[in-house]
Amino acid sequence: MKRTGQGSGKGLTEYRKPKNPGEFWRGEIERLAWGGKGLARSDDGRMLLLSAPLALFPGEEIEAEIHWKARHGEGKVVRWIKTDRRRVPAGCPVAATCGGCDLWEAGEATAELKESMAADLLHRQLPQFQNWRYLPAPAAARRHRIQLHWDGMALGYHRRASHEIVPVKACPAGADSISNAIPRLLEAIQEKILPQRPQRWELATGTPEGRVVAIDEKGHVWLLEPDGWHRNDSDMSEVFEDFTLRHRAGGFFQVSPPWAMAAFRSVLEGWNIRGGTLFDLYGGVGLFSALLGKRFRRRVLVECDIAAVEWAKKNLDQLELPSECIASDIGKWLPENMGMAEDVILLDPPRSGLEPEVSASLLTAKAETMVLVGCDGAAFCRDIQRLSPAWKLTDLVVLDLFPLTHHVECVGYLKKV
Ligand SMILES: C[S@@+](CC[C@H](N)C(=O)[O-])C[C@H]1O[C@@H](n2cnc3c(N)ncnc32)[C@H](O)[C@@H]1O
Repeated sequence: MKRTGQGSGKGLTEYRKPKNPGEFWRGEIERLAWGGKGLARSDDGRMLLLSAPLALFPGEEIEAEIHWKARHGEGKVVRWIKTDRRRVPAGCPVAATCGGCDLWEAGEATAELKESMAADLLHRQLPQFQNWRYLPAPAAARRHRIQLHWDGMALGYHRRASHEIVPVKACPAGADSISNAIPRLLEAIQEKILPQRPQRWELATGTPEGRVVAIDEKGHVWLLEPDGWHRNDSDMSEVFEDFTLRHRAGGFFQVSPPWAMAAFRSVLEGWNIRGGTLFDLYGGVGLFSALLGKRFRRRVLVECDIAAVEWAKKNLDQLELPSECIASDIGKWLPENMGMAEDVILLDPPRSGLEPEVSASLLTAKAETMVLVGCDGAAFCRDIQRLSPAWKLTDLVVLDLFPLTHHVECVGYLKKV
């Protein structure tokens, strides 16, 4: 029996015959999808998923080179026929080729575009859920950590969708101290003061920004001083309104710490998160335990990076916040029936989200409140679905913690069903 293609009345077998690869199409972007791609419809009703560097706006007319798949087309925009009047010139000379940022030309419409991408994801993945809001980044938010690549000839970022290097002399997405350190890093590598072998370098500063370190792939750290780079293994400091966190250079910390801290604070205080024990899982060096401070009688922080756990102990001791800090893989540590009704489970996993065995154990927890943080929206929605037999998402804030890119951070508030 012949099945019918969705929406257009075309037979599936007909759809399976690809049109000529590399065909050009002209038309209008209908809306934005998760990840910043533009959605459009070809003349025969097939869905087109279009990408362009530096932002697409709904309503723009473009020409794109399309490669047909079984049921839809994917393509790259090669020319704009009509641009949105809000599009602005990119504030970075290598924006068109560099793979680091993809929303430079969105200008003041960035918040609107990112919110519409989040709306597309939530509409598809959590269609019943409406209670969410978007918190845009302040214009001043900059990256306190960047990763550059040195290939033996040039220092820069990877070209979009490639491993070639786009040389950079500055990075306007980074804090000034980081950006200014790029030519100094290049000079020191070229002069063989720093290792010359091709590798990835991280430049990082703390909070407030100023003191810059360079970290090589082996984890060796150099501090930038007026007369150049010096080996230095001292820790990094992040000084916030009411507490300081320290951590080792090169270890995980929020990319834009002052803004991330202000955003998390406003969301968690808005939900009045408090209780008996805080289970700070994937806890890093104790950011959420410190932020929620005396709102809990006790904290249990679990994290697999042993050095981060050592720092978490020191950070929380210094703040006089009694805590148990455990170095373990969450999947191995997580007990069945965790906690008591008054406790809160806060999870901040890496991009891949919760491992299946972690979501399964959480279904039996006795704690009745959960906060789930996720830096990949699709993984976050998948985890909310996996948790749904026992946990109901009641509130969600989508934070723009990664300005100039299409990435966002989702912070969900869940109650036991
Ligand atoms: C997104 S970071 C969050 C860290 C911390 N909550 C913060 O905001 O600074 C995720 C953390 O989870 C840790 N991690 C990753 N996989 C883990 C696992 N399977 N078990 C325990 N910790 C893990 C990483 O080392 C990292 O510190």
